[in-house]
Amino acid sequence: MKALEEKILQEGEVVDGDILKVDGFVNHQVDALLMEEIGKDMAEHFKGQGITKVFTIESSGIAPALFTAKELGVPLVILKKQQTADSLKTEVWQTEVVSYTKDTSYRLTLAKNYISDEDHVLIVDDFLANGEAATGAIRLIRKAHATVAGLGVLIEKAFQPGHEKLESQGIHVYAQASIQAFEDGKVVF
Ligand code: G4P
Repeated sequence: MKALEEKILQEGEVVDGDILKVDGFVNHQVDALLMEEIGKDMAEHFKGQGITKVFTIESSGIAPALFTAKELGVPLVILKKQQTADSLKTEVWQTEVVSYTKDTSYRLTLAKNYISDEDHVLIVDDFLANGEAATGAIRLIRKAHATVAGLGVLIEKAFQPGHEKLESQGIHVYAQASIQAFEDGKVVF
């Protein structure tokens, strides 16, 4: 997606060799107009597939996922990152996710009343790196016997294994911007 690639080139910042900071328009401050365009593009890519819900993982995926859900005319469900086993008041599906980039792990949590075996779910997130977060979301969807329409991400780091890992499980991945490499602190699409 041209507008996103241009924004990344103008405002993205490569830190520690392999992390792209997009705090100025995705992760901290949010460019609402760009998110709306992103949502339209995402919905256009996945339309006509009988999607009943959009899922995202808190927190940075929420803005683009919300615009995608609005365009598709379906609800957005935000998967929660539970640090510990709380005394939860509703029944939930949970799965452990390890984040290699951030060197942490969390329990991805979905209340059972927001999914049914009739749902066909599109997952939207900001980054695809190792694919652990998306794989966790897919595990939750499958626990509920719902189906996965695909994964839409704003930015994939194509040199990390996420995309291949998901496609090899039969999940269609759509990346609006695909980064092939970081060279001398610059993004190469
Ligand atoms: P995965 O998301 O593909 O599973 O890969 P990984 O476990 O390695 O990534 C963990 C977290 O790091 C994710 O955020 C992911 O979005 C973020 N991340 C990975 N690479 C980059 C990068 O180059 N730049 C930025 N800004 N983030 C990156 P998260 O823990 O889910 O947090 P949140 O930001 O959604 O709250």
